[in-house]
Amino acid sequence: MKISVIGCGYLGAVHAACMAELGHDVVGIDVDQAKIDALSAGTAPFFEPGLPEILTSSMASGRLRFTTDMAEAQDAQVHFIAVGTPQKKGEYAADLSYVNAAVTALLPHLRDGALVVGKSTVPVGTAARLAELVASAPVDAELAWNPEFLREGFAVQDTLGPDRLVYGVPATEARDRAIALLDEVYATALARDTPRLVTDYATAELVKVSANAFLATKISFINAMAEIAEATGADVTQLADAIGHDVRIGRRFLNSGLGFGGGCLPKDIRAFRARGEELGLGSSLAFLGEVDAINLRRRDRMVELTREALGGDVTGKRVAVLGLAFKPDSDDVRDSPALDVARRLQDEGAIVLATDPEAIPTSQRVHPELHYAETVAEATTGADAVLVLTEWKQYRALEPADLAGAAGTIILDGRNCLDVDRWRGAGWTYRSLGRP
Ligand code: UDX
Repeated sequence: MKISVIGCGYLGAVHAACMAELGHDVVGIDVDQAKIDALSAGTAPFFEPGLPEILTSSMASGRLRFTTDMAEAQDAQVHFIAVGTPQKKGEYAADLSYVNAAVTALLPHLRDGALVVGKSTVPVGTAARLAELVASAPVDAELAWNPEFLREGFAVQDTLGPDRLVYGVPATEARDRAIALLDEVYATALARDTPRLVTDYATAELVKVSANAFLATKISFINAMAEIAEATGADVTQLADAIGHDVRIGRRFLNSGLGFGGGCLPKDIRAFRARGEELGLGSSLAFLGEVDAINLRRRDRMVELTREALGGDVTGKRVAVLGLAFKPDSDDVRDSPALDVARRLQDEGAIVLATDPEAIPTSQRVHPELHYAETVAEATTGADAVLVLTEWKQYRALEPADLAGAAGTIILDGRNCLDVDRWRGAGWTYRSLGRP
């Protein structure tokens, strides 16, 4: 099938490469020449396990190419819109200007029978509005909404083998055709009995934001319990294990620590709240304000914990920060709790040396004033305190002997990912968010 993917950022680049991997003939389109040049050379513009391999193999097979020329979308039957919907500057609402611009630019290139498929996360009501825009095209074309649930670090795996497919389709006679085209796109996943839910536009849009709102709520729930645990001497990790055995609750996404960041959860819950207010339903989603507040409080607490551990003042103290990415297996530092804490400690006068296996270049771009170290050994040499802020596998596996060059023996675990007994047994002062 001939497919175009408009927007080659995180979502689009992965989607384009995966669609080609599944055997489709794909053109990826973006207005950013540098991004297109990098992708055309087989280089992923961000760190994502497995992506370079499928980019290279799909491009070698001739099934995948990248361009800045929207006219090259004209042969495609299905066009995925995968541009960003960032948070508006100074507001909570989503900025839809890229989505609007992408659909508008695509209109003159649509052929008869084409299907435009929205993948970007948008406020409910957007698809109905864009469907009118698509209907104004000079040909007979339709719009569908097909949200994406991929996780960074597992993006290729999640796109090739999604846990469900959601098709938001028009209520018109074009409905069956839209479903048939999407079934053709996702034939491989459907052959594996992937659940497929056909909905209206509004439901499809809401599935995405409500899923993210639920996940964010789950994390903030356990982080609120961590606050209570800290005050009462309880252990939040044992609490999570114990409540997680109830299958109605489930243990996944109950890891307490520095909280959620990244390009999705924080902005999506804010945009969802803003949309609720626009709909006159502010009270229905007001709890998301609390979810956000609990999440941001974890960062304050981490800074406070560091201050406490260092005798009440961080000024002039050497602090090693292990982890800058918002989560492991990613170089993404958008709204990263780890990077935020590192920056705040430096602002308070600490001498921070930060490291990360992948996210130093991305961190340097937004915070060039921070000091970075290439290795754990370099970051921790002479450190008065060591902070683990992203739970990379190699940090979880650290042994006290690996930090022999540190000046102090204080380790602060921002992700509850270290073995307390191992560190305390070796004479270290171990402190964490939510463990005694
Ligand atoms: C999320 C959703 O999971 C995905 O379905 C959606 O498509 C995009 O947003 P992503 O942002 O890639 O994906 O990462 P995710 O694994 O969900 O983690 C988000 C944040 O929550 C990270 O900062 C992570 O460290 C944090 N987190 C996650 C916790 O603090 N505790 C947990 O138990 C799980």
